[in-house]
Amino acid sequence: MLAETTARLPEEMTSDAHDNRLFFRSWMQDPLRAGAFKPSGTDLARAMAAQVDPSMPGPIVELGPGTGAITRALVERGVDPARLILVEADPNFYALLRRRWPMARVLQTDAWAVPALLRRLDEPAAAIVAGLPLLVRPRHERLRLVANALRAAAPGAPFVQFTYFIRSPVPAPRPGLRAHGSDMIWWNLWPARVWTYRLPRRQPEPMW
Ligand SMILES: C[S@@+](CC[C@H](N)C(=O)[O-])C[C@H]1O[C@@H](n2cnc3c(N)ncnc32)[C@H](O)[C@@H]1O
Repeated sequence: MLAETTARLPEEMTSDAHDNRLFFRSWMQDPLRAGAFKPSGTDLARAMAAQVDPSMPGPIVELGPGTGAITRALVERGVDPARLILVEADPNFYALLRRRWPMARVLQTDAWAVPALLRRLDEPAAAIVAGLPLLVRPRHERLRLVANALRAAAPGAPFVQFTYFIRSPVPAPRPGLRAHGSDMIWWNLWPARVWTYRLPRRQPEPMW
């Protein structure tokens, strides 16, 4: 599927050097928003995509896809690009994603507006996959995004997020939110960890 999707694209649209340049420019313009000076490596992107079950029905929502390193890993894992909703704040990444993934829904908006969007979908989201620089936001805002996105998604859906730190970027686990951290992924600049958050099957009263 990936080969079919990318076969028609000019070389510039699929080259790592092009993506690295675009990323570096974004980081120079707004380092806190970019959160990194280059795209995630293949190992990290695959570890993120591995948390998604492609057989679960519903859209897959990616927050902060950048140049699409994790998007590509999701498609390699078997996710149909037509199921993807890509939410990106940077206008240059947004324009690239639209050209690169013409079958996906690509939105240029703030990830924190996404829970409201998820509630309006015809079918609940099967997963939310995020590469957001969460740590630049206050703790309560990080928690609000994850909890509200999960409440609007399908039961059992994961919220997957990576971090360059050891600890969870979201204050979890806690009553009402389960959390699982992966081993450190060393072969990435910078080494990173994948955190997967889910709502418990029986939801206690919200604690936030
Ligand atoms: C660390 S980069 C990760 C990019 C890509 N997922 C990867 O792993 O290579 C963070 C991305 O989140 C985007 N971003 C930052 N804040 C955002 C927000 N509030 N809403 C949507 N996207 C945001 C940035 O523009 C950038 O593309």
